[in-house]
Amino acid sequence: MKKSLLAGLICLSMTAAPYSGLAQSLPTTEVKYRQMNLRPITTEVMVIAHRGASAYGPENTLAAYKQAIMMKADYVEIDLQMTKDGQLIAMHDETLSRTTNAKELFPDRAPWRVKDFSIEEISRLDAGSWFNRAYPDQARTEYTRQHVPTLEEVIECVQKYGNGKVGLYIETKSPSAYPGMEEKVIEILNKTNVLDDRRLFLESFSEQSLRKLKQFAPHVKLIQLYKKGMLAGKNVYQEFKRVSEYAAGVGPFKELVSRKLIKAAHQNYLLVHPWTVNSQSHMASLLSLGVDGQFTNNTDQLVDLLEKPFISHEVAKGDITDSSAVLWAGTNGDASVQFQISTDSQFKNDPIVKTSHADDKHDFIVSVEFIGLKPDTKYYYRVHAVSSKYTVTGSFQTAPTENRN
Ligand code: G3P
Ligand code: CA
Repeated sequence: MKKSLLAGLICLSMTAAPYSGLAQSLPTTEVKYRQMNLRPITTEVMVIAHRGASAYGPENTLAAYKQAIMMKADYVEIDLQMTKDGQLIAMHDETLSRTTNAKELFPDRAPWRVKDFSIEEISRLDAGSWFNRAYPDQARTEYTRQHVPTLEEVIECVQKYGNGKVGLYIETKSPSAYPGMEEKVIEILNKTNVLDDRRLFLESFSEQSLRKLKQFAPHVKLIQLYKKGMLAGKNVYQEFKRVSEYAAGVGPFKELVSRKLIKAAHQNYLLVHPWTVNSQSHMASLLSLGVDGQFTNNTDQLVDLLEKPFISHEVAKGDITDSSAVLWAGTNGDASVQFQISTDSQFKNDPIVKTSHADDKHDFIVSVEFIGLKPDTKYYYRVHAVSSKYTVTGSFQTAPTENRN
């Protein structure tokens, strides 16, 4: 599922067009709603399984990668560290202590840095029990038998279970701690016949590391990652222009993403893959801005969201009187939209239900009016596009009874 950059650019240029003619004949709330960048968005967005399906299994293990493949991820993300004897392993931290039992097995080897251990030593570690302890709801006995995989093992796993449909998204982590890391990455990608794979991204926070990778494999698609603060004080357009000389895209921390950032990236033909997005409401709002993919621990949630049209923009409420209210919603495709309201937050007391159809003719915007409501009363609403599981909730308060004397 790859969203074309062109679609993103079209989306950006379309959003610049004002709705002025239409706006003049609409109530104020609807005018505001229509001005909120309401455009259908493509569903062809990359689902990048961050450290595998790491909400459901121990990160960077074969179990988490298999789970991500089963959940239909487009890419699996692999963090890399390098052992004392130059082997690349899938691990996020520079030390072994958080995600393995290194402290118990090697009590006198503090601070348990990956680079101080051989691959033989690391292969003896249990990389799954920590997950069972930390997330008892997701615990599985078989996780206690997970080991720290090498990059080659992960690639073999993806080749074996991915049916040629799942790509690799590989991060050089802490590259300054590992001289020669980039050469090693390229050597392994070559050896496993994935270097020319269309479905391959290499990513890093380190521009130096990316530039080295580019030197060894000029055609490989690179993603420049950005942490909070890395764009502070910079002209985003100029920064991305510079980055576009070596990278195919940017991977910003999710809170850095704005319309301006996406515009600057797309104008420089850069993809935008924010990390790490775990709630469907956050996924939906980033999709509405036009991102090209998302890193997530919850592979299934993003896949689920992308499968059917969904409520792509905030539900708006307006024209509220003592007995009526209007709700608006926008979708990213043709869909029936169901609105429910109730005075009970659990919707157990006979909710009032109304359905309306969102289509291209009306910019995928629907509105419904609820009448006969109680004055001065809090109403809860929940809205979803049939049959997406993603539901937007909120509430409004009707006005007090008007004095009609
Ligand atoms: O690679 C994108 C994202 O994973 C960067 O953050 O710390 O989870 O590797 P981190
Ligand atoms: Ca990462």
